[in-house]
Amino acid sequence: MDKGIFMHREELDEFVEQVTARTDLLQIVQSYVPLKRKGNRYWGCCPFHGEKTPSFSVVPDKGFFYCFGCHAGGNVFKFLSLIENISYFEAIKLQAEKLGIPLPRRQKSPQEIARDKEIADLRKVNEMARDFFHNCLTLTRLGEPGKAYFASRSISAETIEEFKLGFAPHAWDKLSTAFLKRGVKQELLLSGGLAAERQNGEGVYDRFRNRIIIPIADERGRVVGFGGRVLDDSTPKYLNTPETVLFNKRRILFGLDRAGRAIKQAGYAIVVEGYMDAISVFSAGVKNVVASLGTAFTPEHCKLLLRYAPAIYFCYDSDDAGQKATIRALSIVQGTGASVRVIVVPDGKDPDEYIRKHGAEAFQQLVKKALPLVEYRLQYVLKHFEHDGLEGKVKALHAMLPVLTGIREPAVLGEYIKRLAQALLLDEGIVRDELRRFGHQPLPEDNSSFTQREPIRQAVRHTDTALQRAGRIVIRLAFQDAGILQHFAAMMPLTGIGDRAQREILLALQELAEQGKNSNDTELPNKLSEEAMAELSRAMVEDLGVLSETEAYSNAVRVLRRAYLNMRYVEHSQRAAELAQQGDEAYVAELNQAQKIKDEMEALQFE
Ligand code: GTP
Ligand code: MN
Repeated sequence: MDKGIFMHREELDEFVEQVTARTDLLQIVQSYVPLKRKGNRYWGCCPFHGEKTPSFSVVPDKGFFYCFGCHAGGNVFKFLSLIENISYFEAIKLQAEKLGIPLPRRQKSPQEIARDKEIADLRKVNEMARDFFHNCLTLTRLGEPGKAYFASRSISAETIEEFKLGFAPHAWDKLSTAFLKRGVKQELLLSGGLAAERQNGEGVYDRFRNRIIIPIADERGRVVGFGGRVLDDSTPKYLNTPETVLFNKRRILFGLDRAGRAIKQAGYAIVVEGYMDAISVFSAGVKNVVASLGTAFTPEHCKLLLRYAPAIYFCYDSDDAGQKATIRALSIVQGTGASVRVIVVPDGKDPDEYIRKHGAEAFQQLVKKALPLVEYRLQYVLKHFEHDGLEGKVKALHAMLPVLTGIREPAVLGEYIKRLAQALLLDEGIVRDELRRFGHQPLPEDNSSFTQREPIRQAVRHTDTALQRAGRIVIRLAFQDAGILQHFAAMMPLTGIGDRAQREILLALQELAEQGKNSNDTELPNKLSEEAMAELSRAMVEDLGVLSETEAYSNAVRVLRRAYLNMRYVEHSQRAAELAQQGDEAYVAELNQAQKIKDEMEALQFE
C-alpha cells in the first residue's frame, strides 16, 4: 500500500474512518450480488467461487461478509478489493472517490504533475483512436477492406462490437490530420505511438495504415495500445504500439479486462499466443482466455494472473516454436506454486484455426482434456530427446527432474517414476537416485513406505532456507531496479551467492545492466536456465509477509552478507590451519584475515 502519498499517519486514519463511516456494506454487496434476507443475515451465491446454492452471507450489523463455501470474508473494503481485483487500499480510494471524499495528499512535485497529465492525455487520445479505427471500420467506406478481411476470418459483427475492433485506412495521415484538427497536440500523437515524424519535411504520418486494428486494454479496460494486422501476407504481419508510459508488453495481457471474472469463476486462466486466438476462443464461449502480446510469457504476467486464479492453462501453437514457448512458459509458472496444464491443439494448428475448422464444441473438449504439467513434459521429453544411448537417457531424465520434484501426491509420483523408467529403459532405482540427488533430500525406496512420509514438495520446501528466501528478495528488487543490483553487488560479490539458480539470475541481470539494457529486456528469458526462470518467477510472486520491500531488502542483505562472510571466515581459518601444520609462517596472515572477517560479522550483528 502506498503510504508515501500521505503527510501523516493520523491524516490517513482519519481519512479511512470517514470513508468507512459513510460506506454501506449491504448496499455495496447488493450492487454485485443478489441477496435474500433471513433474520439479521443476508444470503446469496458467492461471487468468488462457482456455486448454485447460496453459502455467501452478509451481516450488516457487524459489517462483514463471509462465504461458508470458499471462506472468503472480511469487511466492505476486502469485498471491493476481491471483486474489483484491486488492493485493499485501492478499494478504500475507489470508495472515497465514489463518495467524493478527497484524498489527503502531500504536494506533488512539478514532474509528478506533468507525468500525471501525460498519462491522462495519453489515455484520452488512445480512447479517441480506438473510436476512430472502430468507426472507420463500421461506418465508413474506407473500412470496407477491413470488413472483408474480418468476414474472411468469420469474425462476426458482435465480436467486432465486443472487442471494438477497427480498421486503419489505406492513407498516410487520416488519423493524424483528424486528431490535429481536433486539437490533439502533435507530441501526444508521437509519444502515444500513433504517429511518427516524417523523415524529410514537416509533420507526422500515421503509424497504423491499411491494417485491421485490435485495441489492447489494461486489466481495468483502459486502452493502452493497439495491434495492427496486415490484410495479406506482407510483413511485418503485426505491428504493435511501441512501448509507451502506458504500454508495457511484459505487464499487459490482452483480454484480461474481459476475461477476469470468467477466470475467477473457472479457477484457471487460458493463455494463448496471439490476440486473434484470444478473440476466437472468447467468441467460442470460452471466456477465461488471455493472450500475451507476441513476447514470451513473463513472470509479471504470471503474477497478474495468479491474482485471479491459482491455475494457468497454456494453449500455444502446436508447431515447434509453440512447443518451445510452452516449455519456457511452464518453467516460469513452476516456481510459483500455481498449477499448470497444457491444452494440446492437434495437427499443428493454432486455437483460432482449430475452432474455425472444428467448431467451438470441439475446442471446449480440448480444454477438458488439458494435460497436467508432468504429463506434457514427459511426452515432450520422450519426443524431443534422443534417448537411445546412455547419455541421451541421462539428459532426458534430468529434463524430467524439476517437474517430478513438484508432484505432491506420492502415488502420482510413483506412477511417473515407473513410466519414466519404462520409457527410458532404466532401472526405477536409478530414477529415484537421481531424483534424490536433485532434491538433496532422502527419498524412501518404494511407494508403500513413501505414502507414510511427507510428500517431496514439502521436503523440498524444508530445504528452502532463510538464505534462499533472502536471495529471492534481492532478486525481486534488483529486477525492478538496477540501482539495487548495484548496491547489492557492492555489499558482496554476486559469485558469493550460494544458490546456483539465484547466482545465475543475478549475474544475468548484471550483464544486462552492464550492456545498458534493463531487466525487462526480452533477452533475459533466453539467457536463463529453466531452473533459474522458475526461481525468478517465484521471487516475483512471493508474499513478503508484513514487511515492506525496503525492509525485506535490508534484512535480506544482512542475512546474505553474514553467510558470505561466514564462508570466507571458514576458508581462511582452514587455510591457516593447513599452513600451520606445514610449518608455514604465512598462517599468521591467514589468521589475521579470518579475525578481521569475524570482527565484521560481529559488527553486523548490531546493525
Ligand atoms: P493470424 O495469422 O492473424 O492468425 O495471427 P496469429 O495469432 O496466428 O499470429 P502468430 O501465431 O503468427 O503470432 C502470435 C502473436 O505474435 C501475434 O498475436 C502477435 O502479437 C505476435 N506477432 C506475430 N507476428 C508479429 C510481427 O510481425 N510483429 C510483431 N510485433 N508481433 C508479431
Ligand atoms: Mn492464427
